[in-house]
Amino acid sequence: MDCGNNDILQRLVLLHFSGKGRGYAMPLTTVHRLMESDALVAVDGLEECSVHITVTSPPYPMIRMWDSIFSEQDDRVARAFEAQDGEKAFEAIHSRFDQLWSLLHSKTSDGGILCINIGDATRSIGGRFRSFSNHARIISGCVRAGFDMLPEIVWRKQSNRPNKFLGSGMLPPTAYPSQEHEFILIFRKGGPRRFENTDARARRRRSAFFWEERNRWFSDLWDDIHGVRQNSGSLRERNRTAAYPAELPYRLINMFSIIGDTVLDPFSGTGSTSVAAAASCRNSISVESSESLVSMSSARMLDCIDECVSLVSGRIASHIKFISSRDRRGKHRSQRYGFGVVSSQERDIAIPVPLSVSADGEGRFTVLYEE
Ligand SMILES: C[S@@+](CC[C@H](N)C(=O)[O-])C[C@H]1O[C@@H](n2cnc3c(N)ncnc32)[C@H](O)[C@@H]1O
Repeated sequence: MDCGNNDILQRLVLLHFSGKGRGYAMPLTTVHRLMESDALVAVDGLEECSVHITVTSPPYPMIRMWDSIFSEQDDRVARAFEAQDGEKAFEAIHSRFDQLWSLLHSKTSDGGILCINIGDATRSIGGRFRSFSNHARIISGCVRAGFDMLPEIVWRKQSNRPNKFLGSGMLPPTAYPSQEHEFILIFRKGGPRRFENTDARARRRRSAFFWEERNRWFSDLWDDIHGVRQNSGSLRERNRTAAYPAELPYRLINMFSIIGDTVLDPFSGTGSTSVAAAASCRNSISVESSESLVSMSSARMLDCIDECVSLVSGRIASHIKFISSRDRRGKHRSQRYGFGVVSSQERDIAIPVPLSVSADGEGRFTVLYEE
């Protein structure tokens, strides 16, 4: 579906914006919805073309910890696991994902972005050891759904575990490479996004990233973001969260969307994407099927100000450190902060600082910002 020039959407975004300054509207609040639901059902209920960016990490097919969830969601998966048929289970799980990619395509605005964090799985099933390439299967599903693939990122999570190597130890040929990376797959709906009015163009300039962030963030290998210790909640939930650090969605949201946009995470787990959206002054919709994870992420949202402020101040502090170590101290000057910046595109960067959060008791959280 083509979203066209979505004026209604633009106007809805502007409803959250009031106050004027330096020629552009100031975003003062963002709204974050947490929904307890199956991803397919919730995404189906969203308005067409209403999502600017999806950042998500689904449960990983063929990783044992997710077998029971996938089996509960689809009989074909349960039967394939019972029959120890790895190929059939893999395909059945991905064919349900395919429906979601297709729905996401219609809910994404023109030029909108889909980022999927996924790892491959290695496993013995039916007497055969093999690798199940989740990332390759998701790429074909998303391309079939109508998305264009953009260059992907390898997220390297180095492990020091002594048992990280697979197979027959020092004996060839049945020793296998350890898997120490995941993928961040990036897709776009249609051609580059257009910013047709003055407000959208101003919000885009305000949402720019620093020169040195561009150099780090737009590398195809990320090895500077560490995995999360799975240490929250009850033991059962702890084994099932597979959370990514909020820094990961925070970076992706800042790379591929602008202030005031709407971010979706259909598999939101502990709510890392909503916190990252709040920190970035974007609205968000998060969907999670586990009741206890929805309560955990609601509590996290209510208490998210420190977490958000640390993400925001981390960016500013890193830039100050970078620019003070450069000989030229930056050729241009930031309008908002007064410090040096490398290029003229960074002059209007102004990161709103989250100040307070309130909840309506029905899964909606409103975050207020100070300039
Ligand atoms: C890899 S985890 C996501 C972790 C999340 N990124 C975070 O940082 O906490 C996948 C999540 O999807 C949830 N899930 C599994 N099947 C689902 C479905 N059909 N609809 C919605 N959520 C689902 C799981 O409960 C789990 O929390």
